[in-house]
Amino acid sequence: MIQDNYGRGVSYLRLSITDRCNLRCFYCRPGKGSRFISHKNILTYEDMLYLLHAASGMDVQKVRLTGGEPFVRRDILYFLHRLKSELPQMEIRLTTNATLIAGKIRALRDIGIKGLNISLDTLDRDKYQRITGQDKLDSVMASIDRCLEEGIRVKINAVALKGVNDDELGDFIRLAMDKPLDVRFIEFMPIGEKTLWEQDYYWSSADLLTQAAELTDMVPVDNLTRNHGPARMYKPGHGLGRVGVISPLSAHFCATCNRLRVTANGRLRTCLFSDKEYNLLPLIRSPKISPERLRLVMERAGRKKPMGHELMSGGKKEKSLCRRVMSSIGG
Ligand code: GTP
Ligand code: 5AD
Ligand code: SF4
Repeated sequence: MIQDNYGRGVSYLRLSITDRCNLRCFYCRPGKGSRFISHKNILTYEDMLYLLHAASGMDVQKVRLTGGEPFVRRDILYFLHRLKSELPQMEIRLTTNATLIAGKIRALRDIGIKGLNISLDTLDRDKYQRITGQDKLDSVMASIDRCLEEGIRVKINAVALKGVNDDELGDFIRLAMDKPLDVRFIEFMPIGEKTLWEQDYYWSSADLLTQAAELTDMVPVDNLTRNHGPARMYKPGHGLGRVGVISPLSAHFCATCNRLRVTANGRLRTCLFSDKEYNLLPLIRSPKISPERLRLVMERAGRKKPMGHELMSGGKKEKSLCRRVMSSIGG
């Protein structure tokens, strides 16, 4: 297994399969002058399989496919099929906005996809359109229900935005009580040089949990059962599902971080916030370079994974922590 210099083992890879997205969320959208990765530099499905075979050989047991929006990529079901049949032991998850999955849910289940993390910041149709630029809330909600019917686990990711969705805390809690799913509020992170970041939007997990406790009982769920994920979860009242927070800024989880990231053009990042990147593309594509070399580079990079990020000791949050925008890292 890849081990870093702080004794953390890497068992989880987040692979962004495209930097394109069909939505334009106001806090995430690439700024003017940003360019998408060119066609020739995007990892092909063959490239990704090659990379994931190497990762699997190093004890990476879980891959999360992100974007952009993974489902804008053509033939993604074909890729998932191949991935599952070539690496049956690998746990495959996806993070998606769920606007393009309506006709694919049964197929996802048949392939063996056990869970989807679904980005959804509001339960109000007009607001959804204002945030994302598209009128897709009804379709997303229908797909969430279909996933649950098919036994696909759903975690909803809502970016916690003061003045935008703080008035909907009660509605989200009710959703998690009515349906067997997780709602996770993510602290708004300063990511991407040209994207919007304003301290005014920042709604800390501590404030959010205090407000939630005023609305209902919030019983903490034993953290040991959540496989070292970044979320702290609670069971509201006697509901079917759970509500929680992901607090990269106020209560970071770097000490137990078990992940590496690869962008859609094959750059390995050892931390979400660090711009230090290792270019794997030539190692993946060149027929003259052995798979062993790719493994070596990944191992060396993994060893240098930083302990955490510069805001860990409570620095100022007024500037972005890294140059790339979220849609090109994959969260
Ligand atoms: P599972 O635990 O596998 O369900 O996934 P996840 O919660 O790690 O993945 P998801 O893609 O749903 O991410 C949710 C949010 O957590 C995103 O905003 C990510 O950027 C953030 N996040 C996930 N992993 C990390 C991490 O290692 N560091 C930081 N700072 N944020 C992370
Ligand atoms: N801060 C926190 N979460 C973000 N996301 C996108 N940009 C940010 C940000 N600046 C969320 C998306 C998605 C997840 C991968 O990251 O909404 O749910
Ligand atoms: Fe891991 Fe970096 Fe996120 Fe900390 S900030 S949890 S080290 S990826």
